[in-house]
Amino acid sequence: MKQANMIVGLQWGDEGKGKIVDHLAQNADAVCRFAGGHNAGHTIVVDGTKYALHLIPSGVLNEKAMNIIGNGVVISPENLIDKELKQFDNLKGRLFISDKAHLLLPYHALIDQGKERLRKKAIGTTGKGIGPAYMDKIVRVGHRVGELHHTEKLADKIISYFESNKTLFDALEIEIPTYEGLLKDLNHYKTELEPYIADTTQMVWDYLDSGKRVLLEGAQGTMLDIDHGTYPFVTSSNTVSAGACTGLGLNPKNIGKVTGIAKAYCTRVGNGPFPSEDFGEDGDRMADVGHEYGTTTGRKRRCGWFDAVAAKHASRLNGCDQIALMKLDVLDGFKEIKVCVAYEFEGKEIDYVPYDLEDVKPIYKSFKGWDMVEGVREYDQLPIEAKEYVKVLEELTSTKIGIISTSPDRKDTIIVK
Ligand code: IMP
Repeated sequence: MKQANMIVGLQWGDEGKGKIVDHLAQNADAVCRFAGGHNAGHTIVVDGTKYALHLIPSGVLNEKAMNIIGNGVVISPENLIDKELKQFDNLKGRLFISDKAHLLLPYHALIDQGKERLRKKAIGTTGKGIGPAYMDKIVRVGHRVGELHHTEKLADKIISYFESNKTLFDALEIEIPTYEGLLKDLNHYKTELEPYIADTTQMVWDYLDSGKRVLLEGAQGTMLDIDHGTYPFVTSSNTVSAGACTGLGLNPKNIGKVTGIAKAYCTRVGNGPFPSEDFGEDGDRMADVGHEYGTTTGRKRRCGWFDAVAAKHASRLNGCDQIALMKLDVLDGFKEIKVCVAYEFEGKEIDYVPYDLEDVKPIYKSFKGWDMVEGVREYDQLPIEAKEYVKVLEELTSTKIGIISTSPDRKDTIIVK
């Protein structure tokens, strides 16, 4: 049976998946997104032109690749039409959106923002409406992309949704659209998106059956997974590799090589536990050198040391065959580099991820830093201290480090033999 290869984030998102996916997409026949929405995002520069991708898979930058947005994704038609599709001349015949994917409509973002305002301890969501859109899907009052084929019927359904949720809309002071306004918007979405709507499950099966190279592009990171992340400070989808099965209609046997992406340090945006966060100069330096500001919201990311306990856990959850270690160059010039090798939890030292990371303290081991790895393209040319660091992370995560990235440039990538 033919299998699809996959890229997943092992930390709290923003691991640098974009660079690796972009690299692998050059040789893929199809690139598929399976979870999340336009909370995800990365920028890719091709021949001096910058593309900001949120929902659209990275395969759009390879003219030969097909691009699938699977049923597990929540789709904001507004964002897709007004921001993403505008960057391209024509993606018809190259981009396909599952008719079973759920619509994320403007009121979902307003609910998200309103709920965040009212929460005692905000999650720090992207405010894009991801949680409310998935909530509607799970409580079975969501609306699917395929319903755009019949906009009047859909408008009626949405109006009755507004009626049954009137108390919520009133409490959050959200103005309910009129039927006419709603229908106009839906017709606009229909005109723009109908050419892309398809039964993508069947398409992915056909690609696999005919031996095409299919790449599955994860979004966010394992520690933000709704089941396995730092709940409730997580996103609302299954970001782990298993999410690709439900989010595209694959079976577990369809999953081939899994590459987990991790930065050589750690970052997180939004609130929630982050045991190896560094609140001092080292964390600030990582943020400055690593340009750690969100592509989607512009927020400064919290920074800290590599958490090997969480990374080992994430590698196991995803079934990683290898890790791509990103942004090693950001640690250039540090005299001492720390790695979180265990946690202190309820007075004991533990080497696993417990139910809640809130009350966990990091236990560090220190390693000698190196001068510079920026731009290095061969493993042999890495400084001895950097090689030692890579070896230690491999041992601690029980996973081979197969790729090392030493700058944002596509070419500054070491493939470890
Ligand atoms: P939501 O996905 O907008 O509901 O946000 C929930 C949590 O996930 C927040 O902490 C966000 O900052 C975080 N999050 C969502 N998407 C991303 C991403 O692409 N990178 C990093 N963090 C993200």
